[in-house]
Amino acid sequence: MFIGLDQGTTSTRAILFDDDFSMVHEARREFRQIYPKEGWVEHNPEDIWQTVVEVLEECKRVATSKGKKIDVIGITNQRETVVAWDAETKEVLHNAIVWQCRRTAERSSYLRKEYGRVIKEKTGLVVDPYFSATKMEWLIQNVPEVQKAYNKGTLRFGTIDSFLAWKLTGRHVTDYSNASRTMIFNINTLDWDDELLELFGIKREFLPEVVDTAQFIGYTDDGIPVASLVGDQQAALFGQTAFQKGDVKCTLGTGSFILMNTGNEKIYSEHNLLSTVGWKIKDELVYALEGSVFITGTLVNYLIKNLGFAKDSLELTELALQVGNNGGIYFVPALTGLGAPYWDPYARGLIIGLTPGTDKRHIIYAAFEGIAFSVGQLVMLMEKESNIKINTLKVDGGVSKNNLIMQILADVVNTVVERPVNRETTALGAASLAAIALGLVTKEKLQEIRKIDRIFTPKQSREEEFNKWKQAVNRALNWES
Ligand code: G3P
Repeated sequence: MFIGLDQGTTSTRAILFDDDFSMVHEARREFRQIYPKEGWVEHNPEDIWQTVVEVLEECKRVATSKGKKIDVIGITNQRETVVAWDAETKEVLHNAIVWQCRRTAERSSYLRKEYGRVIKEKTGLVVDPYFSATKMEWLIQNVPEVQKAYNKGTLRFGTIDSFLAWKLTGRHVTDYSNASRTMIFNINTLDWDDELLELFGIKREFLPEVVDTAQFIGYTDDGIPVASLVGDQQAALFGQTAFQKGDVKCTLGTGSFILMNTGNEKIYSEHNLLSTVGWKIKDELVYALEGSVFITGTLVNYLIKNLGFAKDSLELTELALQVGNNGGIYFVPALTGLGAPYWDPYARGLIIGLTPGTDKRHIIYAAFEGIAFSVGQLVMLMEKESNIKINTLKVDGGVSKNNLIMQILADVVNTVVERPVNRETTALGAASLAAIALGLVTKEKLQEIRKIDRIFTPKQSREEEFNKWKQAVNRALNWES
């Protein structure tokens, strides 16, 4: 049996797969979100570790109860989030600074102006507080414990994969897909970039060794091999068997992440999409073009919890279907700024078009459109920049369950949207990469195993609404500055 350990932004899950990759069990634990100030987001690494221990134990128990053993664990993770620890004392030195955290917004604006082009050429990324580099710099400059370890030379930085690999196997490693999200990793030379390390005041010896995405890392205390580290979005690309150049997937979770496999070619985006490493397995190096939308599932929860519009997402959908259109309302889901293609940390959410006839159902419908349009906009840009016609968009993640949002997405992009039976593509990707590393499965076999749940074909044009929505986005930009 295989375990895909998915350490996400709001929960940690371990999924137990049988030898044919059918799902046997899911263990899940949520953990604390820490918001020390407006726009700041932290996690306690010890909380995360505790959840990891619990979900792994639960899966092991289930395997044992079936008389089976765990052959391998693959780790996938929320990306960019930074943990600092001391190699000597083994103490974590500060809360993890989460990818969503905006504390380095000002520094990032300056860096984008001064170094934006060179950073993009080296790392494939658009300078933004989202990535790890300015978080590491902030920790060095602001946390006395981190400074002390820095001076002693015992400071260690890692993204969550790296932190977990260290806790589980004792090695300080990361993989190419995670390294490519730090903004200090050069995706051309496939190494940490000395000029960027100097710019951020980070020493090479603080950073993990970069290893292949499918590679034996080490054994856990109870002797289970860990054989893959992979960023969660790249894991989903792999889990969707998007192995061919031009294959595209979109994971609609807390946020949405659209990735296109661009083969061994990096695409230098003129529209602020990111170039990133998909995976590296021996001689196979796959780059991906990525568009990130920060708010997706968060908006659904926001409608339920903050606005109290319904008790769950099912009821929200029923309400939206009762009206069947947006009634002239446009919803820009910029609750924490906007990702691609705007990269505006100062944008804020906007609902526009209210009239005396508006009721909450129109707002819900508009929010669903806002989710689908944010994704659709990036899929269309990808098509343009890669010059590859996207015939099928493979979707997964919690929000992909929502048929109405999926239909709007198919309509706006004018392409087929395909949802697999197993929507746990992230954990599946990690588990299958780990199994590949140990020679327990092949890519061909994974393609055979994948089953389709539902296909959404375009039904109506949404061009007019989409254009109007883009106008609304322009009004939401640069609000907080
Ligand atoms: O880049 C951030 C992403 O990896 C977070 O994913 O699924 O934890 O929201 P998720």
